[in-house]
Amino acid sequence: MASGYLPNPALADDAALGLGRILEAAQGNSVRAADVAAHAQAAREHYLAGLLDTSGHNGRRKWADMEIAMTAPWRETINIEDLWEGDMTAVMVDGEAVLLVNIDGTVHAYSNRCPHQASALDEGDLDGETLTCAQHLWEFNATTGCGINPGDAQLKGFGCQVGDDGTIYVDLGR
Ligand code: FES
Repeated sequence: MASGYLPNPALADDAALGLGRILEAAQGNSVRAADVAAHAQAAREHYLAGLLDTSGHNGRRKWADMEIAMTAPWRETINIEDLWEGDMTAVMVDGEAVLLVNIDGTVHAYSNRCPHQASALDEGDLDGETLTCAQHLWEFNATTGCGINPGDAQLKGFGCQVGDDGTIYVDLGR
């Protein structure tokens, strides 16, 4: 077992219970309790199998990715290799248009809708930390989300983190 990565069967039980509930909801509560339990048990075993596979770098990465995946509501988006420093792009996350911005290697996530009149911010311009909306040229600090002009504007921010393999995860806060 790699140091620092200790299996936690209690977490597995929580995950299995959560998956069971999701399955139940997704199927309109029409599944039998035994089916839910079977799915939950399979999920638990799959989770524990992942914990035991910690040999080498890939094993640790698998565990780290699973850590993030199990702590919903983080949603997987693109890889940071596809978002260079000084670049921005829009992705869809659970039906929400999200703007990802890479400032000096740190990724920030915002609603892609301009707070002025909802234009797509990824169609604007990014110059250093300054994001300018293409529609009426409102300016924002892409690191803080705060308005520059006008100063009382504010981008809607979302949680954002990058996994060990470069995957960018977004939390919409729902
Ligand atoms: S819609 Fe962005 S500045 Fe008006």
